[in-house]
Amino acid sequence: MAQEIRKIKESFEKDLEKGKSKDFFQELKVKYLGRKSKISELFSNIPNLPKQERGRWGKELNILKNQISSAIEERLSEKIQKEERLDLTYPAKRPQKGSIHILSSVTKEICLIFKELGFNVIEGNEVEDEWHNFSALNIPLDHPSRDAFDTFYLDLAKKDKKSGNWLLRSHTSPSQIRIMQQVDPPLAVISPGRVYRPDVVDATHSFMFYQIEGFVVGQDINFSYLKGTLLYFARQFFSQEVQLRFRPHFFPFTEPSAEVDVSCVICSKKNKQKNQDRCPVCKGKGWLEILGCGMIHPDVLEACNIDSKKYQGFAFGMGVDRIVMQKYQINDIRLFYENDINFLKQFSI
Ligand code: DAH
Repeated sequence: MAQEIRKIKESFEKDLEKGKSKDFFQELKVKYLGRKSKISELFSNIPNLPKQERGRWGKELNILKNQISSAIEERLSEKIQKEERLDLTYPAKRPQKGSIHILSSVTKEICLIFKELGFNVIEGNEVEDEWHNFSALNIPLDHPSRDAFDTFYLDLAKKDKKSGNWLLRSHTSPSQIRIMQQVDPPLAVISPGRVYRPDVVDATHSFMFYQIEGFVVGQDINFSYLKGTLLYFARQFFSQEVQLRFRPHFFPFTEPSAEVDVSCVICSKKNKQKNQDRCPVCKGKGWLEILGCGMIHPDVLEACNIDSKKYQGFAFGMGVDRIVMQKYQINDIRLFYENDINFLKQFSI
């Protein structure tokens, strides 16, 4: 028996060295461990051995069987790994590529249009004080937007009496104040960023959204500069065919003030009759509101120590979320903030 076991061992070791492929090792398994193998034969021969030797040889054979089996398994798994690693035809895993969020890319696109006109991009502060967010912008003390229902106040120690409480800015207009306080005219600035309002979240409201503020201060600036600038922007951003409509409005920080509508691109002249009553974007009105604007109120210039007799300015502010919703026909603002990859990747470039 001892000799038989040694022979099996020797021949197995020789065979093992010859092994090149997965299939070869599968065959070795059959040859040494299969039902017709030498080891099986020896096992079935055990009952014919003298009683006192059966236990010993049974054990020896089991050890041999286990050694052979683990040697084969080891080589097999090595081969499997190697062969799989070398399969050059196997398609590579594509890494998931990140992309710029649609609100960021549209913000960038809008800023670029104004940069071409000579505007500088300057970001303001998200944490503001009452003076910059309201008072300097000519917003009276009893104005509803100052209410805690409309502005997030922060529980921080006041800087001084004039500044009032700290808050999360409710619009980007305080950027005008910060910049006019620091830089002398002439000025042409575009200032994008997040703004905050404690609105109940629904399809058209979010407690945080994006605005872009723009303003120009210089000598002999009048309303036609404002119209020309906004028309240039609208034609670059929407389409060369669009018209603008200025509707008189009121903002405390501009005088005169206007709200501006852009003609609906979907209801373009050609399709006007056909589409107007079922246009999903403008609901048949033919116009879409895109921003508020006006000539900077002299009190606002004076609050920043700019001589309002010598300098005039215009300003405008737009909601990025709303413009993107109009442009891409998105009907729920929450989609921008839920980070659903399937929604966001539609806009990846
Ligand atoms: N700050 C205004 C808002 O949040 C938007 C705005 C209107 C900004 C008119 C302006 C402007 O600069 O002139 O609703």
